[in-house]
Amino acid sequence: MLDVRDLRVEFRTRDGVARAVNGVSWAVDAGETLAVLGESGSGKSVTAQAVMGILDVPPGRITGGEVLFKGRDLLRMKEDERRRIRGAEMAMIFQDALSSLNPVVPVGDQLGEMFVVHRGMSRKDARARAVELMDRVRIPAARQRVGDYPHQFSGGMRQRIMIAMALALEPALIIADEPTTALDVTVQAQVMDLLAELRREYRMGLVLITHDLGVVADVADRIAVMYAGRIVESAPVHDLYRAPAHPYTRGLLDSIPRLDRKGHALHAIKGLPPNLMDIPPGCAFHPRCPAARDVCRTDVPPPHPVDEHRGSACHFWRECLHD
Ligand SMILES: Nc1ncnc2c1ncn2[C@@H]1O[C@H](COP(=O)(O)OP(=O)(O)O)[C@@H](O)[C@H]1O
Ligand code: SF4
Ligand SMILES: [Mg+2]
Repeated sequence: MLDVRDLRVEFRTRDGVARAVNGVSWAVDAGETLAVLGESGSGKSVTAQAVMGILDVPPGRITGGEVLFKGRDLLRMKEDERRRIRGAEMAMIFQDALSSLNPVVPVGDQLGEMFVVHRGMSRKDARARAVELMDRVRIPAARQRVGDYPHQFSGGMRQRIMIAMALALEPALIIADEPTTALDVTVQAQVMDLLAELRREYRMGLVLITHDLGVVADVADRIAVMYAGRIVESAPVHDLYRAPAHPYTRGLLDSIPRLDRKGHALHAIKGLPPNLMDIPPGCAFHPRCPAARDVCRTDVPPPHPVDEHRGSACHFWRECLHD
């Protein structure tokens, strides 16, 4: 349904050119959940912004690639056509509901506005739909709270309202960018479960962007791991958990607690992700990679097919897989 091919985005600033997205490819089908995983600053949000058509241009610029949605390249569409698709066919959920919702408009009116503008409903009918949606995302006492303002809700409830906004027009695809990062751990799990449940019910495609591998394990079908603006490994979630084919993925897995590996010491990956204005030559991960060799410092690893469902951009993916 959504097919991102060799997408490239850079930012030209006074300090230099940040190469935020360097040939990213991934795809998501109807009813499928793809997790895009990577440390902060790896280009996840910029990828999502480019796909949604909300990139900050300038300083941002798309320098290559295609974003095929139901077979048509969004990057070559006129802005008014893209605007129609945005919201109605693909919607986005952000980390920070407070800055995405309008602080001076009651949430019921913000939800209802979607139906007034896109479906030509009367205010009264739209408000009734808003209450239904708030019920649907399990906001207690929705009928009483439809006139409340965003700041009157807790962080978790606000995130549910954002989910309701995204769902309103029953889009084919939702991109959720760190939707639970700002929440407490228990609330995180509830919101993630709700998202997974609604995804199943509406048979939407879901792209779940996160820096937290622990959050996505239960809900994702596939994972695409990003590092320095590239996808370094892409695989069905169970395969990736069982045997990663890239040392960076292995590092991420080793740094979270796992029930199936009790007693294992946790190792965070040493060092920091690179500055995107100055990406190391060869494999961008080589300064931090315990398996790096000479070739890694000079040659960019191409995406190797590991099997028909997975790929790894590591020269030594076979060793990693069988380690
Ligand atoms: N508005 C902007 N202006 C300049 N550079 C930006 C801007 N937005 C993002 N970048 C660059 O893109 C990099 C990746 O950002 P982002 O996609 O937000 O990372 P993340 O993976 O944490 O979501 C940033 O580290 C920065 O170098
Ligand atoms: S290509 Fe080399 S440096 Fe990069 S992940 Fe593989 S072994 Fe490590
Ligand atoms: Mg981000």
